[in-house]
Amino acid sequence: MSFDLSVFANKNIILAVTGGIAAYKSAILVRRLKDYGFNVRVVMTKGAQAFITPLTFQALSGNPVHTELLDTEAEAGMGHIELARWADLILVAPASCDSLAKFAAGLADDLLSTLYLATKAPVWVAPAMNQQMWAAKATQRNLNTLVEDGVHVIMPAAGAQACGDVGLGRMPEPEEIAEQVKDYFHKAQRALAEKFGLLAGKKVTITAGPTREAIDPVRYISNHSTGKMGFAIAAACYAAGAKVTLLAGPVSLDTPNGVRRINVSSAMKMLDESLHQLEEGCDIFIATAAVADYRVAEVAEHKIKKAGDELNVALVKNPDIVATIAQQSKRPFMVGFAAETRNVEEYAAGKLVAKKLDMIACNDVSRKDIGFASDENAMTVFFAEQYQMEKRDLEKASKQEIAQQLVEAVHDALHNEIDPV
Ligand code: C5P
Repeated sequence: MSFDLSVFANKNIILAVTGGIAAYKSAILVRRLKDYGFNVRVVMTKGAQAFITPLTFQALSGNPVHTELLDTEAEAGMGHIELARWADLILVAPASCDSLAKFAAGLADDLLSTLYLATKAPVWVAPAMNQQMWAAKATQRNLNTLVEDGVHVIMPAAGAQACGDVGLGRMPEPEEIAEQVKDYFHKAQRALAEKFGLLAGKKVTITAGPTREAIDPVRYISNHSTGKMGFAIAAACYAAGAKVTLLAGPVSLDTPNGVRRINVSSAMKMLDESLHQLEEGCDIFIATAAVADYRVAEVAEHKIKKAGDELNVALVKNPDIVATIAQQSKRPFMVGFAAETRNVEEYAAGKLVAKKLDMIACNDVSRKDIGFASDENAMTVFFAEQYQMEKRDLEKASKQEIAQQLVEAVHDALHNEIDPV
C-alpha cells in the first residue's frame, strides 16, 4: 500500500534518548521517522551522550539537539516548556531504568524528566536494559506506575544482549517502532476524519483506469488511461473520512492507504461490481474510468491465427456504467467525468443531463500540459440544476490538489441540495 507521507508533515515528535547501548538504534529511528514525514527533535540525557554524540542526531534530525535544562543559550532557543508544548508525542527510546524511575517518581532534575511532567502530549517508552534489570521488582513496579499514569510501553524484545545475557530487554528494531508511531497517528487522524471530515461516514465507490476488452486469450482493446486521477480522488475521499471502494481497471498504481481496491478488467465486470457496490450501500459514485465504448462481440476461444490481409472484428456497444447506476431507484450522488477537445461547457452540460448526473468534472484534453498520464490537471465542474450552484473552474494543479477540490465540490453540493432527483 502506498502512503501519503505529507499527512505527517505537521506532526512533531520528541525522541528522547537515554543512556544505553541501544542508543545507536535511535539514530536509525530518527531516519525512519523523518522518512514518514514527521518533524523530529532529539533530547539526550547525560547518559545517552556517553554512547552517541548530539552531533549525530543534529545531522539526522535537521534540528539542534536539546541536552540541558538550565542552559541560558538552550532556553533562549526553545525552552523546556516550549519544547513540551511543541511535541505531539514524546518517544523515549531507549528508556533506561533510571528514566523510568524518574518518571514514576515525578522527579524533575534534568531536561527529560522535566519535559515528562510539563507535556500534555502522549508519552511512549521503549525500555531497553539488561534482562536482570528489566526483571527487577523496582523496574516492574515503576513500569506499572507509568502504565497507570497513561504511558504507553513498547515492550522489549527477547534475545542476545550486548552484555552477553540472553533474555527480555532488547529495544525493538527502529523500523518497528517507527511503524507503530506512524500507525498511531494514522489511526488518530482517521478517527478525526470519520467524525469531522468533509465526507465523514459516506460510502464512496470510484471507478478508475481503463478497461480491457478481450479479442482472444492473448489480445485486447484498451486505452492509455493511467488511473492517476481516480486514485488521487480515492485518497482524497478517504482523507475526508469516507469509506472508499476503488474499482480499478488494469493500472500499475499502488492502492491508496485505507482504500478497498477491487481489480476489474472489462467494462462488463466493472458494471457488475458497480451494481454490487450499490447493493452493499453507496452514497457517492464517482466515475473516472475511461471505459471502452465497445467490446468484441464474440471473444475467440483460441488465439486468432494470422491469415488474410484483413481481419474484421465485430464490436458491440458497452453499457454506460455511470448512466446505468444513475438510473437505479436508490441512486447515490453521481459524479461523472468528461474529456473534451472543444465546446467543453456545452458537451459537459449535455452529459450531465443525458446521464442524469449530479456533478460533472470536465477537462480540456486538447491541452498538452495536463490530462491522461500527466501528474497535473485542470477542470471545470458543473452541477445539476437542482443544486443551484455556479460552475467551478479548478485551475491547473497537481491531481492530488484537484482531487481535494472535487471532494469539496461534492461536499458543498450535498449540503446545497434543494430538490434531489
Ligand atoms: O460519454 P463519455 O465516455 O464521454 O462519458 C464519460 C463519463 O462516463 C465518465 O465519467 C466515464 O467514467 C463514464 N462512462 C461510464 N461507462 C461508459 C462510458 C463512460 O461509466 N461505458
